[in-house]
Amino acid sequence: MSHPVSCILSLEQGLPFGSADLLTLPARAWCCRFDIAFYQDEDFAAQGVRLPLSIAGAAVKRRGEYLAGRIVAGRVLADLGYPRFDLLPGEDRAPAWPDTVQGALTHHATLAICIGWRRPARPVSGLGIDIETLINGPRTLELWPGIISVWEREYFATLDLPFAVSLTLAFSAKESLFKALYPLVNRYFDFLDARVVRLADNRITLELLVELTPALPVGRLFECGYAATEHDVLTVLAIGND
Ligand SMILES: CC(C)(COP(=O)(O)OP(=O)(O)OC[C@H]1O[C@@H](n2cnc3c(N)ncnc32)[C@H](O)[C@@H]1OP(=O)(O)O)[C@@H](O)C(=O)NCCC(=O)NCCS
Repeated sequence: MSHPVSCILSLEQGLPFGSADLLTLPARAWCCRFDIAFYQDEDFAAQGVRLPLSIAGAAVKRRGEYLAGRIVAGRVLADLGYPRFDLLPGEDRAPAWPDTVQGALTHHATLAICIGWRRPARPVSGLGIDIETLINGPRTLELWPGIISVWEREYFATLDLPFAVSLTLAFSAKESLFKALYPLVNRYFDFLDARVVRLADNRITLELLVELTPALPVGRLFECGYAATEHDVLTVLAIGND
């Protein structure tokens, strides 16, 4: 049996899971499948990606996912007119995009995805994307109080969705919101600082419960798209494209 020559198994334009309709926005997306079992540091040079010192000493899993993330980000940046941009991690881990670009990255065990667009001329704009493996049975009971409020839990009980799915979707949507808003807010904010007020028809509506900045007041709503498979959920959030 032949082994892949690199941990990178495939590289495709668009989003995975047949979820192209989540991108009803002027954004570019690339997706990469990888197998960490075949990772070697030489994969960086082979893919034309620089291995930063901060990542060189990290665990193999982190090096592999970072590489896959930078490969998809490289394709998105090339689509947006930056073919050789070195997307470095900031001190806060947020990637340092070119001034005219907003983007977001996510990875899990086998997939890395990047979306990006030319920064809209809006004071409040941003992109977020997040992929999560379904939170399984016993962990839902352990984790839910850190992710959703009692109010959200009661709302989810009225939905025709297993709690594991609604909880993972809420977690992922809030991570997407965090990634989209972090460059505007410049600080950590918590999962309980926003709540899911609607989850239906592959859309999630999130509401801010705290003022993050004067332009991001309590009650501000955000629309997030989602797709789910048996094992994973994907959420995509675009702010400022309307
Ligand atoms: C940073 C965080 C969002 C990463 O999410 P994750 O599910 O652990 O990991 P993902 O693979 O989906 O995303 C990782 C990518 O997010 C991006 N990212 C990390 N920190 C970021 C930040 N502060 N702002 C924007 N993007 C960030 C990076 O591109 C990172 O990949 P890279 O390090 O390879 O470049 C998450 O760990 C976290 O700390 N969340 C903060 C709390 C929160 O989400 N609150 C919800 C508010 S409603």
